Formats: sequence, C-alpha cells, structure tokens
Amino acid sequence: SSLQMFVDELPVMPKLHGYSNGPNSPKPGNLVIGMFEKKWKFHRDLPVTTVFAFGTCPEEATVPGPTIEAIQGVQTSVTWQNHLPESHILPWDPTIPTAIPKNGGVPTVVHLHGGIHESQDDGHPDAWFTSNFRETGPTWSKATYTYPNIHHAGNFWYHDHAKGLTRVNLLAGLIGAYVISNPALDAKLNLPSGPEFDRHLMIFDRSFSRDGSLYMNYTGVVPSIHPQWQPEYFGHAIVVNGKAWPYLKVQRRKYRFRIINACNARYVSLFLSNGLSFTQVGSDGSYLPAPVQTQTVVLAPAEIADVIIDFSTSSATEAVLKNDAPYPYPVGSSVDQLNSVVMKFIIPPGNPTEPDTPKIPSSLVSYRATATVDGAAKRRYIVFYEYTTPSGDPTHFLINGKKFTDPVTETPKSGSTEVWDVINLTNDDHPLHMHLATFQAIKVQELVNLAQFNSCMTTNNDAVACNVASYVTGKLTEIPPTEKTWKNVVKIPPGNQTTVVVKFNLVDTNSPYPFDPTGEPGYVYHCHILEHEDNVMIRPLKLVW
Ligand code: C2O
Ligand code: CU
Repeated sequence: SSLQMFVDELPVMPKLHGYSNGPNSPKPGNLVIGMFEKKWKFHRDLPVTTVFAFGTCPEEATVPGPTIEAIQGVQTSVTWQNHLPESHILPWDPTIPTAIPKNGGVPTVVHLHGGIHESQDDGHPDAWFTSNFRETGPTWSKATYTYPNIHHAGNFWYHDHAKGLTRVNLLAGLIGAYVISNPALDAKLNLPSGPEFDRHLMIFDRSFSRDGSLYMNYTGVVPSIHPQWQPEYFGHAIVVNGKAWPYLKVQRRKYRFRIINACNARYVSLFLSNGLSFTQVGSDGSYLPAPVQTQTVVLAPAEIADVIIDFSTSSATEAVLKNDAPYPYPVGSSVDQLNSVVMKFIIPPGNPTEPDTPKIPSSLVSYRATATVDGAAKRRYIVFYEYTTPSGDPTHFLINGKKFTDPVTETPKSGSTEVWDVINLTNDDHPLHMHLATFQAIKVQELVNLAQFNSCMTTNNDAVACNVASYVTGKLTEIPPTEKTWKNVVKIPPGNQTTVVVKFNLVDTNSPYPFDPTGEPGYVYHCHILEHEDNVMIRPLKLVW
C-alpha cells in the first residue's frame, strides 16, 4: 500500500553560518558538525526510520543536514565528526573496492561538492575515519577541513565520499546543502530572498519497508560476482527536504528554489502542473548569463538548478511539481504514479502580504572565463565503459578501462584549461563530476558505427588508435541554454562524444590562493551515479605546477 501524498509540510533545514561577526563584516567561521545515527520521520503515516544524519548535536541532526551559508572569499572551517555506530544500517558489498576498518565502525569522509580547496580538505575516498577517529584510512591527514569559498557565488552541497560506501552512506542520509553568496551581487540581482521566499528543495528517492526502515535490495544483480551491489538504486517514494511528497503553501509572488538532485541514480525531469513555468537563473555553482524561462528542469544526480517560480501568474490554486524522467535515463522504464510526483504548491487566492520584489533582471552574471578551446593546455579522450555478463547484467563500470587504483593519468596544471572529449560507450547517461574543476559542455555529437568503434575499443582501449574522429560524425545535440555556464556536473549522453572545456582551480576572488602545495592526496573525478562511482567509475586527478 502507498502513503498519502501532500500530508507533511515542506521542512526548512537548520541553517549554519560558515562565517562569524555578521554578514556585513564577515570573519572566518568555524563549525563542528557530527554524523549521528537517529530516528527520522519521513511521513506522517510511516513509522520512524533509522538514518545517519548531519548536525551540530544528535537532537539537531536532520536529513538532509543543516544548510551551510558561506560568504564568498571568507573562509569556513568545519570539523567533521563521526559518531556512527559499530555497523551500518544498510547492506554494503566487500567485493567492490571498499573502506573496511579492522575494528568495526562506519567509515565516512565529507566532500564539499563543487568546492575549490586543497586536496587534503577534499574528502578523498581513502581519507575516511570511523567513530572518534578510532581508525583512519591511508590518505587521512586532518580532522578540520578549510574551505576558502573562492568559487563563484552559487549552489553546492556536501556529502559523504568514503571508498565503496558512498552509495550507502548517502542513502542513509549523509547529505546537506552549502551556499556561497556574495552580498553585493545579491543586492544587485535582487532575487527573492529571506527564509520564506528563498528555499532549498533537496530531492531524493527512497523505498521504505512497512516498519519504516530504509529498503535496499540485499541481493546483487550478479550475486556470484558482487553479492550485494546493484547497478542503480531507484526508490519508490520521492522525498523533498526529508519528507515524502510534501506540500508548501505559497503566496502569489515570486519564490527562489535551489533544487538539488540528491538521488543516488535517478534523473529527474521536473515540470509544474497548471501551466506554471520556471525561470532558471543558475546551474550548479554558477549563475547563467541571463535568466532562461523553461517548462522543464532536467537534473542528473548531483546537479543543481537555481530557479524562480512566480506564483502570481497562476490562475489555479495549486501546482504539483512532477517528474517524468525515465529510469535509468534516458531510455529506461517510465516513471510510475509514485515517482512521477515530487511535491505540491498550494496557492491560495489573495495578494501577497508584502509587495513582491521587482522584476527578475534581464541579465545576471558574465564570468571572466569563457568556454573556448583556445589556449587549452591539453586535450584528452575520456571513455565510459560498462562491463556485463554474457546475458547483459552489469558487473562494473570503468573510465578509460582503468580502475581507481591504477596510476593517475589526469595531471592538469594548476590554473590551466583543458579540453576533455568524453565518449559514452554505454546505453545510459552518466553525470560527470570533477573535483576542483569547473567545466562546461560546448559540443555534443553522436558516434556513427558505434558497434564497430566499441569492438575496437574493447580490444585496444585507445580512442586515437581506433580512429575516433572518423566515428564522431553523427547528429549534433544543442546544449540547453540552462547548462551554458560553469558547472560541476555535466550530463554525458550515451553513444555521443561530449566536448567539455575544463578550468582547474578557477577562482573568482582577487586574492591568489596558495594551491595544494603538496599535491597529496590529490582529487578525483567520477560518475555521480553513486552505484557506478563505487564500482568503480572513478579516477584520481592530481594538480601539478
Ligand atoms: Cu558530489 Cu565526488 O562528489
Ligand atoms: Cu555512471
């Protein structure tokens, strides 16, 4: 049986300032954030669920965790503490490369997704630690991470990144939003603001057992190889800010929503019933050059859209936020009744209590760096592979045919620009995420005679030797205007070559930053479908000078 929709109000997660001394003369801030096991109520009619949650103390811990509000150029230090129990609440799989402590406990390490910071503060998959730092992974070096917040002002999030456990640690609840803002820019853009009109929607799908516990299939898709690992987690219920199918009562005015797809594997293609549209102003950690009005917002796992919805234009008294993305994306099953609904906006008649903010500006932010191949220090081919049993069941995924533990091959120069031609030889879209980098797609072109290219690559694993250019001659796909900015997740469609311009440690502040002097432990890039990332669609990335 299914839960009734729209019975819980959309929660607002607690907010933590990543700075001290007030927003007008901000000083560096220090936070201590723990990870706790606790009970969480996902729905009025569902028994409590055991989760792992971020918070300043067990009572304050939430799923998602608190929203960290940082100010551009003002450093935020966070001591991430693990207070998790001896064993995991979800099944994990020791046959994939995994952090396995000798003395029990749940390994965790936190990554600020999209941040530009030293690699020692990046949450390297081997820099994990168990409860009270009793045991630490091979690349662990410090308990307090420092984020200089030198990226563009924009939307980020933080989440666990422990090797081989990322999919279960995030499924358990170890996620939270992070915003870098620039007060002068905010004043200039004058977008809807304040806790009522500027909100996060952190969307994730979960399945629950009747007793309220998180449900995850305990049997692997190819149990003889990986007894527990499944290639994608798809939950039945859609949860926003920790409540299944919530509602929000709004006024007839503009609201800003920072929408984060925090699903393990599900893409969402969002639209509003009753004819309302979105005006998108930002994507991931950057603004768009100008607002884009759109009926749909398609987000891969980990992708973020910053949108305005103007409820004053609605003649109806409600609008349902819906999803129609097939899973896996883009050619899997159609959504069913449960995961086709995200939440409901209730729009009572009457005027807003205060006059609405002025018009959305016609232009937003133009960044100094432009996405061009000119001056690129390096051009690379990056190839996505899926490996299957003879009957077609996936056993693992690799980038360039290499494992995470194979020697580093991507060693960009600090401050440089590179061009990556990313070729997807699988049937599904994969969200490419690179740590430290900010990047954007400039060209998407289909490969012809894919089967022939694929068989050459399977034996040769060398795009140039396989004469890749002679295959990349098919149909071109337009890059949507909502994705023409500096991003940290780019969708890589199947059977295509996606050309991305990549900037490494591109800072948006005037102060130079002494960057990653030791180069250790380095960064990673990976697919952000967490089941792929864990097994093992992830590669090291090291900055050099
Ligand atoms: Cu959002 Cu490497 O992670
Ligand atoms: Cu993938």
